[in-house]
Amino acid sequence: MKKALITGITGQDGHYLTDLLLQKNYKVYGLVRRNSSPNTHRINAFLNHPNLTLLSGDMSDSISVSRIVADTRPDEIYNLAAMSHVGLSFNQPEYTADVDALGTLRMLEAIRSNKLEKATRFYQASTSELFGKVQEVPQTEKTPFHPRSPYAIAKLYSYWTTVNYREAYGMFATNGILFNHESPHRGLNFVTRKITTNVAEIVNGMRSHFTIGNLESKRDWGYAKEYVEGMWRILQQDSPKDFVLATGETHSVREFIEAAFECVDIKIEWKGPKGSVEECGVNAKNNEVLVKIDPQQFRPAEVDLLIGDASLAKKDLGWEPKVKFQELVEIMVKHDIEYVKQPYWQVEKTLC
Ligand code: NAP
Ligand code: GDD
Repeated sequence: MKKALITGITGQDGHYLTDLLLQKNYKVYGLVRRNSSPNTHRINAFLNHPNLTLLSGDMSDSISVSRIVADTRPDEIYNLAAMSHVGLSFNQPEYTADVDALGTLRMLEAIRSNKLEKATRFYQASTSELFGKVQEVPQTEKTPFHPRSPYAIAKLYSYWTTVNYREAYGMFATNGILFNHESPHRGLNFVTRKITTNVAEIVNGMRSHFTIGNLESKRDWGYAKEYVEGMWRILQQDSPKDFVLATGETHSVREFIEAAFECVDIKIEWKGPKGSVEECGVNAKNNEVLVKIDPQQFRPAEVDLLIGDASLAKKDLGWEPKVKFQELVEIMVKHDIEYVKQPYWQVEKTLC
């Protein structure tokens, strides 16, 4: 039985990867950080699984990281833990660097100090945010990086540390450069889930409108469930290599809002000067304002356009995403229309 250690197991990707690896009959260990309230809601369904063990640790603490690697001696490590919110990283740059940059170094050093360089395969959750102010369209494994946030800069450190440990110590250490991937398990303060939960609240008569930041930024949005399959395939190759995972389509935040409202038969019309804070989205049927602009949601530096070319993943991994933009929006809206009716939703949204 193969053993895998997942950091960030309580996050969106942690949920789908745990599910996948348990189905593949892995023994799964999850590094979970201490929280004052339970933070395992995404993996509650697996908590009684005999092949899942959660271990207390924190990516900012090299002692716990090293101890967990020593105790578990995993065949594969998926390093998903991160302060993953780009906007918030501008407010917490030092913490973001500690966890997202040095955390990776701590894990790679833990592999070395436990003499597992030749035994343990390492996956680093790298990101399309590395491309930032993009140098070419679409972005591939060869596109130069230009990070635009403390988050992306910390992830750049981790990207190169992973490459360096591969080259210096011959480790099977790889980067998955993943473009945005979403799902009903997406955190509530990422734009897609923010939109789908707000649309769900509007259609259920729980709110009249919501606010949003930059409508023009474009992202290559895929379905998280398919992306964790790509992560696993990256670690099953004969030799370590870095891969882009993406859909090859790009859509703006504006288009996401329009598509989400379309799922509930509301056509959005935009009023006011385009790109200004006076612009708003109204219900074309009755002129009711449903979307307003909140300047506080804009970032000090924005990533305007991401679109990935995952040809290498298709060729080498046989990985190709099936769920594209429209279906993804439908999956999320459909889920959230029911989700916001649950009693705990009111608590969850105030905690966000
Ligand atoms: P997520 O939902 O925000 O999950 C992040 C995970 O990291 C959570 O389990 C969180 O624990 C954990 N974590 C945060 N700080 C930690 C610390 N100091 N010690 C231990 N664990 C810590 O993120 P995601 O969407 O699943 O993404 C997974 C990874 O892929 C992240 O590294 C992200 O940066 C990267 N990535 C994501 C995307 C995307 O579109 N989703 C694209 C490219 C790359 P709590 O539950 O306790 O907060
Ligand atoms: N979060 C948020 N909230 N974003 C907004 C809002 C809002 O109210 N309004 C507009 N946006 C815009 C952001 O400015 C950004 O351009 C875009 O929506 C997407 O924002 P997020 O959903 O927060 O995701 P992200 O692209 O910044 O980062 C995500 O994807 C990266 C991969 O490219 C995260 O998952 C990162 O961890 C990941 O690396």
